[in-house]
Amino acid sequence: MEQYIMKGGNPLAGEVTISGAKNAALGILAAAIMTDEDVVIDNLPDVRDINVLLEAIEEIGARVERIDRHTVRINAKDIHEVEVDDEYIRRIRASYYFIGALLGKYKSAQVPLPGGCNIGSRPIDLHLKGFRALGAKIEIERGAVVAHAIDLVGSHIYLDKVSVGATINIMMAASLADGLTIIENVAKEPHVVDVASFLNSMGANIKGAGTDIIRIRGVRRLHGTEYSIIPDQIEAGTFMCAAAVTRGDVTVKNVIPKHLEAISAKLLEIGCEVVELDDAVRVVGKPYQRHTNINTLPYPGFPTDMQPQMSVTLALAHGTSIVTESIFENRFKYVDELARMGSNIKVEGNVAVIDGVGCFTGASVNAPDLRAGAALVLAGLAADGYTVVDEIGYIQRGYEHFEEKLKSLGAMIERVDCDKDLQKFRLKIG
Ligand code: EPZ
Repeated sequence: MEQYIMKGGNPLAGEVTISGAKNAALGILAAAIMTDEDVVIDNLPDVRDINVLLEAIEEIGARVERIDRHTVRINAKDIHEVEVDDEYIRRIRASYYFIGALLGKYKSAQVPLPGGCNIGSRPIDLHLKGFRALGAKIEIERGAVVAHAIDLVGSHIYLDKVSVGATINIMMAASLADGLTIIENVAKEPHVVDVASFLNSMGANIKGAGTDIIRIRGVRRLHGTEYSIIPDQIEAGTFMCAAAVTRGDVTVKNVIPKHLEAISAKLLEIGCEVVELDDAVRVVGKPYQRHTNINTLPYPGFPTDMQPQMSVTLALAHGTSIVTESIFENRFKYVDELARMGSNIKVEGNVAVIDGVGCFTGASVNAPDLRAGAALVLAGLAADGYTVVDEIGYIQRGYEHFEEKLKSLGAMIERVDCDKDLQKFRLKIG
């Protein structure tokens, strides 16, 4: 099993270029099968979740041509299957985007129900509510969502909770429905806006993405397009926290600063220097960083996907911080791992009380999920001594060349897959 080994203590310094947004790319790749013409997508992040979704697209019969590591041409005219194999949903939940895409185009879809995951139960009831509102018949049969519609007809849908996935999934199906669909209480994340922009580049008629209400006038068909994915807000935020927690000086390039405002605001609150440039943000950590409070919220609030990374930063700040996780019910699993490094955090329900400590000591820890895994790496880079992070497959799902990018900033980190390599690293670093 691959692991990261690192020796902490080096303030990270230099420039890092951010890859395309994983969570935009997952919706966009699913939407790409909604036309019979060529679709070229650029700035794809080279991460496991994207590569798995491309395999699934090929499996149902689309032609997938990898032009380079970050660019793909897809043509879905020969799709012969509206049933997605269970293997794919078990490997990535976002396979559920096939429901909206296939239902929109073929008026039929059969996709396994995604299970829960390490951060919570993650139901898809709102997705199904939207599809039913558009006229689809939805059954749950043998663990799969079976969706059929004679016709999809525009409808007025109110989402009981703000949901990124439901917003994107319903938007896709409604793009090819008859008439006007209004979706209220939608998610406004940058990646939701990117999927809407992508669909509009294919000839869809979607207005209001990024606001509380999205209006979609269905069209008869969608055409091919060429599109470039936006930069990854969460990868950018992760490197911003890496600068803060190691007291470094990092310029995060190829970003949209507006997407990072909630993260920049919190780093400023704890005393970091944050400088916004046109397409970059520079973060300078300070020896004395103070406590603050975090409440994760839908965009433009503080993103839940940045909660573990910010909590690690606060665990090494002065004073007591309160972190409230309002989106998922089980997103503090990393706290027990962090305690092994000397943190002082008490979790009660969805609230973590973080008493900052002066330093962490290196330890062996397990990544419980994607973002918590990245947060534990940040902790290891700030700790005294050696840290080994196990289960790094989670991290590779969402971060492209994570250790290479960190090494380019001066981090002493290696990806290893056996004890011999662990020892070699220790001997090399000393
Ligand atoms: C997306 O998940 C992201 N994943 C998550 O990022 C992110 O944490 C989340 O949005 C919130 O921003 C992708 O985009 C692939 P939701 P999603 O639907 O769409 C509840 C990462 O690290 N809910 O916005 O599944 C749900 O349980 C991942 O990249 C329902 O109750 O999240 C949660 O409490 C982790 N019923 C809340 O809404 C539904 O039908 C928000 O979930 C749907 C959601």
